[in-house]
Formats: sequence, C-alpha cells, structure tokens
Amino acid sequence: MNILVTGGTGYIGSHTCIALLEAGHTVIVLDNLSNSRIETLYNIKKITNKDVIFYRVDVTNEKAVRYIFENHSIDGVMHFAGLKAVGESVEIPLTYYFNNIISTIILTRACKDYAVEKFVFSSSATVYGENTVPYIETMELLATTNPYGETKAMSERILKDFTKVNLEFSVALLRYFNPIGAHESGLIGEVPNGVPNNLMPYLTQVAKGKRDKLYIFGWDYPTIDGTGVRDYIHVMDLAEGHVAAIEKMKKGVQVFNLGTGKGTSVLELVKAFEEANNIRVPYEIVGRRPGDIASSYADCSKAARDLAWVAKRDIVAMCRDAWRFEINNIT
Ligand code: WQD
Repeated sequence: MNILVTGGTGYIGSHTCIALLEAGHTVIVLDNLSNSRIETLYNIKKITNKDVIFYRVDVTNEKAVRYIFENHSIDGVMHFAGLKAVGESVEIPLTYYFNNIISTIILTRACKDYAVEKFVFSSSATVYGENTVPYIETMELLATTNPYGETKAMSERILKDFTKVNLEFSVALLRYFNPIGAHESGLIGEVPNGVPNNLMPYLTQVAKGKRDKLYIFGWDYPTIDGTGVRDYIHVMDLAEGHVAAIEKMKKGVQVFNLGTGKGTSVLELVKAFEEANNIRVPYEIVGRRPGDIASSYADCSKAARDLAWVAKRDIVAMCRDAWRFEINNIT
C-alpha cells in the first residue's frame, strides 16, 4: 500500500517508516521538521535501502496537504505529526489545540475528498486519565490532566463521529503507552529539543555526562517502590503495531492499546539501564512533577487477538538500544 506518514521524520514516525518499508509498503513523508531532522531520511535509506517521497510541509497547511493527495494515489494515512510535550501544552494551550486538532480535521477532510479509506491515528494512554490499571480499551475515559491529552481525546472523538456517517472509512486509534529505545542500528532514535521532558532521553544524557544527574519525581506514590510506574514499550514494537493495524483494519473505528502489559517503576528502569549497559546513572529523588499519575500500564489482549500483534522486545533491549543511539547521536 501507498501510505502517507505525517510526522515521518519524528521519533515514532521514522521508526514506523522503517517497519512499513520492510513490510513492502511505499511511504510518503509529510513533516515540517520543527521537531526532527532531515538526516533521518538518509538514515531510513541506510537502514532499509529504500527511498521515501518527502514533502517539507506543515500539516495545518491545508492547501499543501491537499496537493499531496491530488498528486499521489494514497491508500492510507498514519497521522503522527503533532505537538506532544505535556508541560508545554499547559503553557501554550491554543497552539496545541490549533495544531493537533486542525491537522486531524484537514487530513480527515482530504481523506474523504480523495477516497482514502484507512486512517491510523497516533493516540495516547493519556486519554484514559487517572483510571484503574490495567487500562482497557472499553473503559470510560476520565478527564485528562493537560491540553495535550485533551487534543488526543478530541481527535479520537472527531474520527469516531466522522466514521459514523462515512461507513466506508476505517480508523485505528492506537493508544501508546511509553515508547522508549531506538532502532538497533543506532542510526535513528529520540532527539528531544532542549531539556528532555521524558525519562529515557534524560536518563541517557545523564549516562553520557551531558547532565549531572537524573531527578526522580516523587518517592511516595502507592507503587512497588514509591516511584512512578509506566508501561515502557520498545519503539520498534510500537512501529510494527502500526503496520499490523493498517494491514488488518476493518470498516469503522477500532481502538487498541499498544503496550507490553507490564509496569516498570522509575527506579526499576534506572537499575535495568545500569545493568544492561554496565554504567552508573547518578540520581536524586525529589518532589512529584505536577500532573503525573502513580501508575499507567496496558491490558493489550485486544491487539494480540485482533491484530495478532504482541510487543516482543524486553526492557533490556529497550535500554541497550536507547544507549547505543545516545552514544552515536552527535547533537
Ligand atoms: C515517566 C516517568 C515521571 C522524567 C508522557 C506523556 C505521554 C507520552 C509519553 C507523548 C514518570 C518520571 C520523568 C524525569 C522522572 N507523550 N520522570 N524524571 O509522563 O508517563 O508520559 O510522555 O506521546 O502521552 O504523558 O512519560 O517519560 O515524562 O515520565 O522521574 O526527568 O518518569 O514522573 O513517573 P509520562 P515521562
């Protein structure tokens, strides 16, 4: 199939491009490079020996987006392009609502007008709000704790309402847990702008000596050791989950958790990283980060049943692959 990947030079988008190319699909990448690098395209070629078609376009530029639909026979869309920093979304909510919601509407409208019937949406476990774990797709969604999470929940509702009256349309809402790690080549990975918000990129920068220590947010959560528990999933497993979703999708809306079903605390992840890479990671435990929840992990039996997809890579592989990219990453 010919797949349009918005945000295809980004962290999850670029890994998914590799999985799509390796599964024999052709890929058109749309990205404005605001939070990624053009070099990623060369590295995708190095890894797969295949080219992608690239448009440097902002996904909220409707004219430019429709030019791509007009000039390519697209079979499906994977929509990754979006702003994704939880803390930043609290500071600049209008930018987040405009970018993340308008882009979904523009793409869905183009799909309708150009008879593109498959749409895979990059959603997030954040939409569950502070629910009881493990999160299950049929759960009632509670209020999210930030505008970023709201844009994911709203985009899900937009796609559900659209599909109710466009019966030929197929939508997969993929709720990610915590993607970490990098492609085993060490050529592509997570390159956060500025100070990393997320745990793993901050941790690898401390291990490399770019930062003096890791600050662990909170010691008094009701968890195994008092630190936050999350469902970390290897980014290549997540990428392969997208390929399974677009190849096996049905008419209507399907929701899938893409996680491992296992919860790992911050301290457990630090220990796993130190043992996997034989390196020390200095840390200091400080107060909780506003907006954080105690535990988040998935029930992923639905993806296993309906997509025949299960995360294969363990926490050791996630830590080793993340470290290999950090060592190779010159920035
Ligand atoms: C994980 C754990 C922190 C940094 C967010 C979004 C989610 C997705 C992934 C985009 C928590 C602790 C973190 C640090 C720490 N984003 N931590 N020190 O918040 O679970 O999820 O990012 O798709 O939608 O909500 O991920 O990596 O920020 O935090 O102790 O320097 O690590 O408290 O327990 P989070 P995270």
